[in-house]
Amino acid sequence: MVEVSTSILSMEQGSEAETIFSLEKAKTDYFHIDVMDGNFVQKDTYNRMRKYAEYIKRISNLPLDVHLMVQDVEKAIQDFSAVEPNIITFHLEACKNEEEVHKNINLIKECNAKVGISIKPDTKVEEIYKYLPYIHMALIMTVEPGKGGQVLLEDMLSKIKTLKEYITTQNLEIDIEADGGINLATHDKVKMAGANILVAGTAILQATDYKVIIDELKK
Ligand code: DX5
Ligand code: ZN
Repeated sequence: MVEVSTSILSMEQGSEAETIFSLEKAKTDYFHIDVMDGNFVQKDTYNRMRKYAEYIKRISNLPLDVHLMVQDVEKAIQDFSAVEPNIITFHLEACKNEEEVHKNINLIKECNAKVGISIKPDTKVEEIYKYLPYIHMALIMTVEPGKGGQVLLEDMLSKIKTLKEYITTQNLEIDIEADGGINLATHDKVKMAGANILVAGTAILQATDYKVIIDELKK
């Protein structure tokens, strides 16, 4: 069964409560919290996403899927562990060496959250292999991180497929999350490639009926 993690990056300010309740009713599996620090990526959503995550924590029991697009991973783990997220994902490219990757993995585990590692489109999938035994989810960016509403990069599909094959041959229990440009036109290809958690922001938030889209993405 495929799960859907709705990115609230482009959630309309002023109608947060209505959007959150509607997404809950539409049975999103997670809220995807896109944390950007204005350094690792150009946009800075840090404080807004922290406020949203705290708010969702207060009004919903659905799990938070926190995607850290930040340079200072340690600080962001500390800041966002306060909302007890289900998953905290950081970028491999934000770490200077293996030791730092393992430090972040352990920090997230100490917060009782599942560990995700994300790689940007230009990062080879093999770079993540050595960490797979220690993590719960691999997040494959299907767009350049930094903003919503972009077009899915088709050559990321073979990257997902390669990762899925590797995980299968290694008998690992790891979720593959795809993130960026996922909509009614692209979701089938992404699932066929092997992703089992789909992040969608624009495709869902722009719809008049969230449930129609979320049901379609889950098929
Ligand atoms: C991009 C974010 C994605 C993005 C998804 O940096 O990580 O989660 O918000 O939005 P859509 O679905 O609009 O591509
Ligand atoms: Zn994201």
